[in-house]
Order: sequence, then C-alpha cells, then structure tokens
Amino acid sequence: MQKSKLLLFRIYTRLIRYIPIRWGSFKRAPFSTRYGRDRGTVIDRGYIESFVHSHADAVTGRLLEIRDRDWSKRYGHDIVLSDVLDIDPSNVNATIIADLQDDDVLKPESYDCIICTQTLQYMADPKHVLGALFTALAPGGTMLVTVPGLQQIDHHLKDIDRWRFLPAGVESMAKEICSGVATFRVKSFGSTIATLGFIAGACKEELPEAKHAYDPFRPLIIGLEIRKWTDS
Ligand SMILES: C[S@@+](CC[C@H](N)C(=O)[O-])C[C@H]1O[C@@H](n2cnc3c(N)ncnc32)[C@H](O)[C@@H]1O
Repeated sequence: MQKSKLLLFRIYTRLIRYIPIRWGSFKRAPFSTRYGRDRGTVIDRGYIESFVHSHADAVTGRLLEIRDRDWSKRYGHDIVLSDVLDIDPSNVNATIIADLQDDDVLKPESYDCIICTQTLQYMADPKHVLGALFTALAPGGTMLVTVPGLQQIDHHLKDIDRWRFLPAGVESMAKEICSGVATFRVKSFGSTIATLGFIAGACKEELPEAKHAYDPFRPLIIGLEIRKWTDS
C-alpha cells in the first residue's frame, strides 16, 4: 500500500470506533419469525429466484423439484415429466413421498433437470444427498441447488434444520461429487444489509438499498449449478 494511503487507513481505523452505530429499530428485532413473510416479500427469495431464472434454459424435459412446482411453472419449457418430492405425506403436490436420505429413492439418470432449493440443510449428510441427486441426473442434465448461508434457524423445521453453508464448502462438496464428470459453478448472494435484515425478520420492501448490494463475505444464499457431461 502507498505510504499516504497507509496513513489515511491508520487514521480511519483509529477514528471509526468513535462513530456510534445507530441501531434504531434493530433493537426490537426479530420483527418476524416467518422470514419476514408476514411483512412482505421474503428477502432471500429474490436471490433464489434470480439464480433459477438465470438458468431457465435448463428447466426442461424430465424435471424434479422439492415440495412444489413453483420453479417449473415459472421457468419450465418443453416439460415431459414434472415430479415433486417431499417427505411430508400431507403434501398433495408431491408425486414422490420419500426421505431423500434413504438409498434408492430416485432411479439413476432419470431427470434432465433437478431443482433442489433450500433443502440440503435438513439432511444429516448433505453431501451424500447431493451425490444421490447427482446420480439421478441424466447425462447432459442440469442440477440447480441453493443452500442457506448466514441465516437464522427455521422456526417451523427447527428440529431438522442442521446446517449452514459457505461458498468454499459448497465448492468442496461439488468437487468430490462430480469432478471429471460435470461442470459446476458456485455463486453467492447477499450483503451486510440483506443478510442482517433477513436475520432480523425484515422484508424486501423494507430494504430497497439491499437490491444492488453484494458482499462475498456475508453470503445469505449460495447457488450451485451442476451440468453433467453427456459422456460421463
Ligand atoms: C423449505 S422447503 C424448500 C423447497 C422449495 N421448493 C423452495 O422453494 O425452496 C424444504 C422442503 O424439504 C422437505 N424435506 C425436509 N426434509 C426432507 C427429507 N429428508 N426428504 C425429503 N424432503 C424433505 C420439507 O418437507 C419441505 O417441503
């Protein structure tokens, strides 16, 4: 660092501690125990949507989703099969009621696109389940996965909400599962304001300044795209 820049940086770090943080209404947080859904649009949904939307080309053919058909309804085209898996037997949208952690739940190479958003954190062994999903992906198929980064515990599923992820950890899991047989990419989403706001229970409409902010050190959501090679 240049001498003048270093001096300015030193002055800044000495002074910054005397500038008080104005916590304002954050002192009353959490504002919601439903991810802000009762106040407006859930903050992390925007990131998950933009991740799936950016891979809309892949949402085609034989599809598998978890809990509902939200993504295939929104982004699917030329759909041949639309399976929905859930462990919850009361889910009327589900075509497969099963525990993803059990062996042989899905047939190998049976889907062209698997969308597994916000589900791996409920698995005792997320890497094992990611591997089983990858096995169920047909050659040439795409898997779109999102997992929570810096987030609060799910009130509704608190007993099985087991894990939080970081981009390097997701990258390690993907490497172990599909190196040499697929191309994969990890992308994180979030910022100080979005991540703090989400944890505090605020909604998207309450944080318009979060829209264009990005901070790789405060990931709220981590997206993983895996494209299985045709000759794998
Ligand atoms: C938070 S939802 C996420 C899925 C949703 N498509 C989304 O938009 O993000 C998580 C779903 O995973 C299901 N789930 C939890 N543990 C499971 C397991 N071991 N096997 C299969 N489904 C499971 C829950 O019942 C719930 O429907």
